[in-house]
Amino acid sequence: MENFTFRNTTKIIFGKDAESRVGVEAARYGNKILLHYGGGSIKKYGLYDRILKSLKDAGLEIIELGGVQPNPRLSLVKRGIDICRKEKIEFILAIGGGSTIDSAKAIAVGIPYNGDVWDFFTKKVVVEKVIPVGVILTIPAAGSESSSNSVITNEEGLYKRVVGSDMLRPRFAILNPEITYTLPPSQTVCGVSDIMAHIMERYFTTVKDVDLTDRLCEATLRTVINNTPIVLEEPENYSARAEIMWASTIAHNDLLSTGRIGDWASHGIEHELSGIYDIPHGAGLSAIFPAWMKYVYRKDPERFAQFAVRVWNVEPDFRDVEKTALEGIKRLKNFYREIGLPITLKEMNIAYDRLEEMAEKCTEGGPRGNFVKLNKDDVLEILKLAR
Ligand code: NZQ
Ligand code: ZN
Repeated sequence: MENFTFRNTTKIIFGKDAESRVGVEAARYGNKILLHYGGGSIKKYGLYDRILKSLKDAGLEIIELGGVQPNPRLSLVKRGIDICRKEKIEFILAIGGGSTIDSAKAIAVGIPYNGDVWDFFTKKVVVEKVIPVGVILTIPAAGSESSSNSVITNEEGLYKRVVGSDMLRPRFAILNPEITYTLPPSQTVCGVSDIMAHIMERYFTTVKDVDLTDRLCEATLRTVINNTPIVLEEPENYSARAEIMWASTIAHNDLLSTGRIGDWASHGIEHELSGIYDIPHGAGLSAIFPAWMKYVYRKDPERFAQFAVRVWNVEPDFRDVEKTALEGIKRLKNFYREIGLPITLKEMNIAYDRLEEMAEKCTEGGPRGNFVKLNKDDVLEILKLAR
């Protein structure tokens, strides 16, 4: 096990009616807040009115900025920064999924900075100061509700890039599984794909003697796998929605990273796909992850066999570890297929003419991944395997 420091400061408020506490929680950070949200689902399903009431009861002054698109854009972030500076906003409340939360985080980091907020995403500068952010989560997926990252797409050049800092962890995250009842199946499964990917990125490590976190990863994966068919069948099953919602946070709050070094190449490759083609991040991952696995599993077939046996109940073949390993990858793909996720680029109507460009952009900062270091040609091969 590697040495580590673990601190996740996001206060999690979980359960039925949890959003009624938002006014009291937000009031701890200021009187004037920016309400940031997406394309309208919160208004359609009545959440907006409940939140507004709680905020007004707490005496807060509210400025609104909606319109965050999935794969959130830099232009809206810049608009948000201008509004917040002009209005002297003290706190940002994000209501939505990863896209809205990431947009809020990017605004929060941009307000006190005198240059172009994109500088943080190109690693030209590091985060030193942020405006506090709080979250009401509406879709379990990205884990941004307690992660240290924000992922934004710059429309100029379609670069989807990440900024990371502990300061970007939201002050609080309100998680009411009932709010997720309205998710259509396609969004539910894209969320599931992202949750699973966050766990698998951590699971496939070269660090030895990480039994506790191996088993925490396996348990979280199994919980998600077991509960997904239930929520697809019964969208209003509270228990199953609750398991998946809590798993989304656990998958990406860095507890499962303790003592190990994750891989993250599949995420790097996927961000090129969703940056250019504007597909859901989870859909890109369900095509890329199995391709990545096929490309790298020979580096440590025993680890892949452990994944197969412990997560997918594969009967181990002790004379043929590779066979067991490959069976695990096959079961993962079958699961994606069964719940309605794409497992090829073709299914997402992605032509093959820009694979080289994506491989180039993905590795322009150096090789990707830790389990196996991937250069441009490797990434290109993985993209080809995902066709
Ligand atoms: O915009 P609205 O109208 O709210 O609709 C959204 C959106 O269209 C809809 N939705 C959300 N909650 C709903 C709902 N519809 C009905 N009922 C509800 N309760 O779902 C759609 C997708 O929302 P989005 O926020 O885009 O989804 P997700 O949470 O998957 O976020 C994806 C973004 O997060 C980034 C991804 O790259 C992508 O840009 N990620 C962020 C990470 C982080 N900050 O730590 C890590 C991840 O690996 C990921 O890269
Ligand atoms: Zn992800």
